[in-house]
Amino acid sequence: MSKQFRIAPSILSADFAKLGQEITDVIASGADIIHFDVMDNHYVPNLTIGPLVCSAIRPLTDAIIDVHLMVKPVDRIIPDFAKAGANIITFHPEGSEHIDRSLALIKDNGCKAGLVFNPATPLDYLDHVMDKIDMVLLMSVNPGFGGQKFIPQALEKLKLARAKIDAYTEKTGREIWLEIDGGVNTANIAEIARAGADTFVAGSALFGAPKDTDPHRYDTIVAALRAELAKV
Ligand code: DX5
Ligand code: ZN
Repeated sequence: MSKQFRIAPSILSADFAKLGQEITDVIASGADIIHFDVMDNHYVPNLTIGPLVCSAIRPLTDAIIDVHLMVKPVDRIIPDFAKAGANIITFHPEGSEHIDRSLALIKDNGCKAGLVFNPATPLDYLDHVMDKIDMVLLMSVNPGFGGQKFIPQALEKLKLARAKIDAYTEKTGREIWLEIDGGVNTANIAEIARAGADTFVAGSALFGAPKDTDPHRYDTIVAALRAELAKV
C-alpha cells in the first residue's frame, strides 16, 4: 500500500444504549478514528449528540475524535467540543457567516480544522483558506441521516479535491486529509480510494453487523474494508 488509509466509524449507527462498548470494540477491531456526527434539527433535519457525549467517550480511547458539525451557527459550540476532547472539528461553509473566523476559532482552541462539502457545494470555498485547513470532508450523501446510498458524482469531485490538495502540499509541504462520508461500504471503498480519498467514514456498513456481544464482531468488516484498500 503506497498510501496511508484511515477508517473512521460513524457512531451515528452504533447502539447508543451501549455506546462506550461500541467505541471500545470498533477501535479494538482496527478502526482508526471516531467520526462524531452532530446534528441540530435546524441545519439538517435530525438531532443527535453534543459535547456532553463527546466528553463521556473521550476517556475510553486514544483514537482521534473527528467531530462533524451539521449545525448552524457553528461558532458558539466550537469551544465546547474542544473542551470535550475533540481532535478534529469540521463544519459546513453554509453553517457559518464567517468561514475564515470559524476555522481560526477551531485552531485557537487547539483542534485541527476542516470544511465539509455537500454534494452540490462547490470546492471554491477552499481557495482562500487552505492554510487553515487540516481536513477536507466530501459528503457523498446529503447530510442528516446514516444508511443512504453513495452518490456516484462524488468520485469526480474527489478527484478535483485531490488535485487541489496535492498542488497545495507540493507547494507548502503541509499535509491535508481528504475524507469521504456517506454510503461507503466494502463494494465501493476501493473505487473511492482510487478517486483520491484517504480517510473513510463508515456508519451503517460497520455498525449494521449483527448486534451481538462478541467484542470481535467488527473484526471481519474492518478487515474486509482494509483488504479492499490494499488493492488500491
Ligand atoms: C450523514 C453523516 C454520516 C453518516 C454516514 O449526515 O454525516 O457520517 O452517519 O453513515 P453511512 O456510512 O451509513 O452512510
Ligand atoms: Zn459525518
